[in-house]
Amino acid sequence: MNKTIIVSNRLPLQVKRSDNGIDVTPSVGGLATGMKSVHKDSNGVWVGWTGLTDDEIDEDLRSKVDIAVKKEQCVGVNLTKDDIQNYYYGFSNRTLWPLFHYFLEYTEFEKEAWESYKRVNEKFAKVVIDQIEDGDKVWVHDYQLLLLPQMIKAAKPEVPIGFFLHIPFPSYEIFRTFPKRKEILEGMLGSDLLGFHTYDYERHFLSSVKRIANKEVKFNKITHDNRVIKVDSFPMGIDYKKFENAAKDNLKQSNRQKSEVQRRLDEHLNESKSAKMVLSIDRLDYTKGIPNRIRAFEYFLNKYPEYKEKIRLIMLAVPSRSQVPQYQKLKRETDELVGRINGQFSTVSWTPIWYFFRTMPFENLIDLYTSSDVALITPVRDGMNLVAKEYVATRTQQDGVLVLSEMTGASKELGEALQINPFNFEEIADTLKRALEMPLAEQKSRMVSLQKRVSRYSVERWAEEFMTALDSSQNVSQYVE
Ligand code: G6P
Repeated sequence: MNKTIIVSNRLPLQVKRSDNGIDVTPSVGGLATGMKSVHKDSNGVWVGWTGLTDDEIDEDLRSKVDIAVKKEQCVGVNLTKDDIQNYYYGFSNRTLWPLFHYFLEYTEFEKEAWESYKRVNEKFAKVVIDQIEDGDKVWVHDYQLLLLPQMIKAAKPEVPIGFFLHIPFPSYEIFRTFPKRKEILEGMLGSDLLGFHTYDYERHFLSSVKRIANKEVKFNKITHDNRVIKVDSFPMGIDYKKFENAAKDNLKQSNRQKSEVQRRLDEHLNESKSAKMVLSIDRLDYTKGIPNRIRAFEYFLNKYPEYKEKIRLIMLAVPSRSQVPQYQKLKRETDELVGRINGQFSTVSWTPIWYFFRTMPFENLIDLYTSSDVALITPVRDGMNLVAKEYVATRTQQDGVLVLSEMTGASKELGEALQINPFNFEEIADTLKRALEMPLAEQKSRMVSLQKRVSRYSVERWAEEFMTALDSSQNVSQYVE
């Protein structure tokens, strides 16, 4: 049976060393959580980095890692400490990530990191090519592997290759500043189908292809090396049923069955019935607008003092890329801001911000989603933002309000959310007030529409549409030739 080979930097599982061997945990972030369910139901393999570097494992551990990875239909790519330093922390996360999220001032360019990026993309290519059998397709994911499509195409021209970018593609004026702009585009153009979350990212990409790579672009088709490459937008969805069912189960649980987190949340909810919970969940990343959110919350408390003791911001920040200086700076800034605001506003019985800096098991995420009156999602740039969709899926009573930054890919689909500009504190404060005071009937009518849309375009459907488009892109190239 033909298979699809999924390729991404991180596998859906992460292996770490522990005292008695290895520890296997799920990966965080939209790509891994979203693709996991697609992969689980397919007969394909997933190629990626295990989370361990070569120097951390001996022969004995390697076979344990291989078994753990194989059990999940995955194949590991071996990376060295130097690869992780230069390709992952370096070129991927100190160059491409800030550049593609419009953080030009954070974008560093180092030749050594670029060389490492090319080398690691070659390593991935070798492993993928080894896995390919007749009739297989390859689906490459995200900014860490932009050169990979071209490398695979050169070795296996007959294999259909799809590529999906999970982050924004920046406007031409940003992308043109990048020294390796042409090489990056050529790498991506090894694909037969290129997918983006939104039409805007697609448009930006096509404009760079036309102006930088000088390719012929007609509507959403590019002619390159006697091939026709299709470009389209596919807004990624979530495993809707998984979140909806977990939320339904959560509501049915008796006190004894409830998690510790839920019991503590209930205590607070019962203590003061009129107090509201506002939730935010993100990786601790400077693109997520965390300091803006905290400052806007402070502004809200000053502007609407009647809400003191009547509102609590629950902020879950999941640790991420903590070796990159900008992330360390953000951690310090966030700690300070939370400390300052809690110090200034807290009373004996009230702390305005509950701040958690850690990962949380799935069942506790559901506890948080189902207990919150408002989700406050304020990224300054975000490719999609699946948290917004997860919040919608867990509101099984159709109440709750989603406040969402217009800088997220998700805002294009979620028109019934209250949308804000994350740089406008006045607007965030007023919108938060509006959300807190929204009549139940309006909450429901907005939520019902949101749920219809998010449930219809689930992650399974997203993957199906992408694969169907990849199949038909093959017909297009053959027809043109
Ligand atoms: C974003 C990216 C993913 C990445 C995830 C977690 O969602 O699009 O490619 O895996 O963040 O980041 P990390 O650097 O820990 O893999």
